[in-house]
Amino acid sequence: MSVPREWVRGDLPLGGAASEDDHADDVGRGEVRLTGVSVGYGEQPVLQGMSLEVDRGDFLCVEGPSGAGKTTLLRLLYGSLLPMTGVAVVDGVDLGQLRPRHMSRFRRRLGCVFQSYELLPHLTALENVLLPLQLAQIAIDVPGDRAAEALEMVGLDDKAESLPHELSGGQQQRVAIARAIAHEPAILLADEPTGNLDPVATAEVMRAFEVFHEQGGTVIMATHDESLRDRYARRVVRIAPRAA
Ligand SMILES: Nc1ncnc2c1ncn2[C@@H]1O[C@H](COP(=O)(O)OP(=O)(O)OP(=O)(O)O)[C@@H](O)[C@H]1O
Ligand SMILES: [Mg+2]
Repeated sequence: MSVPREWVRGDLPLGGAASEDDHADDVGRGEVRLTGVSVGYGEQPVLQGMSLEVDRGDFLCVEGPSGAGKTTLLRLLYGSLLPMTGVAVVDGVDLGQLRPRHMSRFRRRLGCVFQSYELLPHLTALENVLLPLQLAQIAIDVPGDRAAEALEMVGLDDKAESLPHELSGGQQQRVAIARAIAHEPAILLADEPTGNLDPVATAEVMRAFEVFHEQGGTVIMATHDESLRDRYARRVVRIAPRAA
C-alpha cells in the first residue's frame, strides 16, 4: 500500500470552529484543524505557519528528524502549548478560545500514550485503567466494567490482576493504551509508543491501536519507525526541521 504524503507547511481552509460548549452536537468530533499555527517555547516558534487537517477515523503518522517538533505538535493538540498565531481546533474545540477552567474537561476528550508507560507500580493492570476514570468523575455507569472492556480491547483481559512488574514491556504499553481509551476518546495521541519495544511487542501494541482505529477512532502518532508508518498510516505528515 502506498502512503499518501504531505508536508505540513502550506495553506488549508478551515471549517466552522466550535467553542468548548458546542459538544452536545458533536461538531468536529475526532477532527483536527490547524490553520497557520505557530507554536513553541519561547519567542521563537518551533512550528511556524503550520496547517493540517485530520478527519475523524484517520490514522496519521507524524515523522521528522529529532528536534523537528513532533512532540511539540502533540503538546499543542493536547492543549499543553497554546498557539502563538493561527487557529487550532481539536475535537471541535478552538484551543485559542478555550478558557483555562475548561482545559481539564477538554483533555478528557483525548487519549494520550507516551514512550514510557507511566503505570502506577502498586496497582494492578485493571486498577491502573480504572483509577483515571474514577478521578476524572466521568459519567460512566459501571467504571469497573468499562476498564475491563478497555483491557479486553487491547487483548489483556487475562492480565487484569497482574502488577506492572509482572508484565512485559509490550503488555505494560497495552495497559497504558487501555487507560488512554477507557473513557472513549475520539482522538488518541501517541508519542513514539513503541520506541522501547522489540518487533513482537511492537506488533502487539500496534494491534491495540488498530482496534481503536477500527472502531472509528482517530489516531495521531509520532514515530521514527518507517515500517510502522508504511504499514499502519493512512496519512503521513512530515515535519521539516526549521532552516537555521
Ligand atoms: N520544554 C522546552 N523548552 C524549550 N525548548 C524545547 C522544549 N521542549 C522541546 N524544545 C525544543 O523544541 C524543538 C522541538 O522539540 P520536540 O521535542 O518537539 O522534537 P521531536 O521532533 O519530538 O524530537 P524527538 O524525535 O527527538 O522526540 C527542539 O529544538 C527542542 O530543543
Ligand atoms: Mg519527541
